Amino acid sequence: MKKYPLILLHGYPLEHRMWYSTIAAVGSNAKVLAPDLPGFGKVPLLEDVKPSMEAYAAHVESLLTSLNYGKVILAGMSMGGYVALAFAEKYPGRLAGLGLISSQAEADTVEAKKARNETVEKLKKEGTGFVLEPMMARMFTPARAKDEDFRKYMEESIKAAGAEGLSWALKAMAVRPDRSNFLKNLDIPVLVLHGTEDKIVPAGKARDLAERCRNPILVEVKGVGHATPLEAPDAVAAGLVRLVATANEE
Ligand code: MLT
Repeated sequence: MKKYPLILLHGYPLEHRMWYSTIAAVGSNAKVLAPDLPGFGKVPLLEDVKPSMEAYAAHVESLLTSLNYGKVILAGMSMGGYVALAFAEKYPGRLAGLGLISSQAEADTVEAKKARNETVEKLKKEGTGFVLEPMMARMFTPARAKDEDFRKYMEESIKAAGAEGLSWALKAMAVRPDRSNFLKNLDIPVLVLHGTEDKIVPAGKARDLAERCRNPILVEVKGVGHATPLEAPDAVAAGLVRLVATANEE
């Protein structure tokens, strides 16, 4: 019986369409909702709210409430995973399962924070034109970074977010707290799925993350980079279906 809907949160600088192939492969195994976070796709930025993962999480919670959703299974890719973790901490009673895909529970290092702040400054001065090329190289394996469809998708997502949407997200990521210790308190199944060739969040971090969970499902996808749902949607869907089945059994 399918008790819990599956909610999928996109990464940076993407939007909900990154999940299309994964959703097709999940098929009838779950009812899926893949919203855009504020400032991405067509969803406006949160006005007068300080950038934080908690603010994105509060937005997701109010969306679920407005749709009369009860408990859900929440999975996020990379930044989407940071939001899902903030959600799990703020609203533990709303979750039947958690998915951390190409993500991590640790906070930014000093260097990572500095790099995000520099990007925010550059976005202010130059707009979004410089974002695509380095992002292609970081998100994908070298062969897939040449894929024209991925490039077009990335370009459209960056353009839709604009300098303001991207800056808000960068500031929010830079201030996120370390949630590694929080995971041991979470008594729900947690899918940790990672590509072995990830250049943004190395695969070793996924193993550490899974070790911190009480009820982990660890999936390593060989030969795949950071953008797992784009590069390996069938493997991501298979991991999510395992998470859904485990959450629905409990
Ligand atoms: C993402 O894919 O969401 C971002 O690359 C995550 C990050 O920069 O930490």
